[in-house]
Amino acid sequence: MNRCVIGLQWGDEGKGKVVDILAESSEIVVRYNGGANAGHTVVVGNDSFALHLLPSGAVRPETICVITNAVVIDPETLIEEIEGLAKKSVGLNNRLFISENAHLVLDYHKKEDQLREEALGKNKIGTTIRGIGPCNADKVGRSNAIRVGDLGSLGELEPKLRAIVDYKNKVFKCVYNAEPLDSGVLFEKCKSYAEKLMPFSIDTTEYLYNALSKGKSILFEGAQGTMLDIDHGTFPFVTSVNVSALGMPAGAGVPAKVVDEFVGVAKVYTTRVGSGPFPTELNNDIGQYIRDKGHEYGTTTGRPRRCGWFDAVVASYAVAIGAIDSIALMHLDTLTGLDELKICVAYEIDGRKTSFFPANINKLVKAKCVYQTLPGWKEDITGVTDFTGLPQNAKDYVTFIEKCIKRPATMIGVGPNRKQTIFKNIHSR
Ligand code: GDP
Ligand code: IMO
Ligand code: MG
Repeated sequence: MNRCVIGLQWGDEGKGKVVDILAESSEIVVRYNGGANAGHTVVVGNDSFALHLLPSGAVRPETICVITNAVVIDPETLIEEIEGLAKKSVGLNNRLFISENAHLVLDYHKKEDQLREEALGKNKIGTTIRGIGPCNADKVGRSNAIRVGDLGSLGELEPKLRAIVDYKNKVFKCVYNAEPLDSGVLFEKCKSYAEKLMPFSIDTTEYLYNALSKGKSILFEGAQGTMLDIDHGTFPFVTSVNVSALGMPAGAGVPAKVVDEFVGVAKVYTTRVGSGPFPTELNNDIGQYIRDKGHEYGTTTGRPRRCGWFDAVVASYAVAIGAIDSIALMHLDTLTGLDELKICVAYEIDGRKTSFFPANINKLVKAKCVYQTLPGWKEDITGVTDFTGLPQNAKDYVTFIEKCIKRPATMIGVGPNRKQTIFKNIHSR
């Protein structure tokens, strides 16, 4: 059984938790997109892991972890993560494989990201400043790109790096009046990256092809969420690649048809970090209640997340373009205590009602939400293990979402811990 986990909103839906659960029945977990802009949280007992580049399967000592070609790798973050897990006695030797074709995020990418955002002022995208956009731009531009495999030929890397840094320094000075970087210092860092990362570097496309041929079960872990997709999200307030399900085959290097189940992950409300339109946003006490109760602060940047009602127009769109089979609904516990809950079932744009998401922000900013109101519940549900054990209003809320997006909820989150999950509509897992 091969599965792929996809975020259905603006990221941070709880993919890390879902991947961790599904990893129990998978031999290999694959991170195939994004970079250290992602922050995937896995909570096991009293231990919490925030993973940025390693697949969330990494916390299970028997799971093989693969990072494919389309992940843009910040070597410093990856090394920190590998060493951080080793300190917790979770070793990755012989079970971590990194694509030699994955592009490297280097210091000048992060600097460029920051300078560009500062220059944009109030029009900034609100990026994570992890250098993701500049690295992907260099990848597409080709001539200034450095990949993991380049760390294997340091003799050739040195002059290449010097030329790139010279070019970047001109941009820093002329465009931003900013200090230059020292290519010698960066090259020394690359030597240490080479020593620490080259032992993991392989051709992951070949590795996954062989694994699939042998019938291994693979779990593909998407980063970000469909609304942040460069082509199908809320452009320009998106990340720099295809992070909807449509990006999975190119990112992983395997055809989408090998995936038996696309699992979409959504919170039972909506959050977003960074700038851009957010039709169901709650700039009031209810938004703050959700932020406080759900600990809605970024895993990567610590920024407060913007919070709003569940948007069925957004989730249905993500399900439609991603051919999502089933959904994991997270954070049901966070809504406990609210008198009534709203779900956006359609938008009204220029007097016309639509339930199909317009991925054009000129239209989206005009969207007025059409809401359905449902009653809330007060009971603590964080210890509930079975759907029938939920208060009737909580069951009705979940059932209403399933009806809106026309997919069954197979997992329902009632707390951050692995064990705080209700399984529904499935045989066993
Ligand atoms: P990801 O990027 O999609 O992996 O999500 P993040 O890890 O960035 O953010 C999700 C946050 O919600 C993390 O702190 C999780 O530990 C937490 N979380 C996941 N599922 C639940 C849930 O059902 N209830 C609560 N209260 N927290 C959850
Ligand atoms: P996970 O995998 C939430 C958002 C940023 C910003 C936009 C562009 O944890 O769900 P970038 O740094 O990618 O150029 O920023 O995308 N963003 C995320 N928001 N979760 C993420 O990842 C995100 N990755 C990027 O906040 O709005
Ligand atoms: Mg996250």
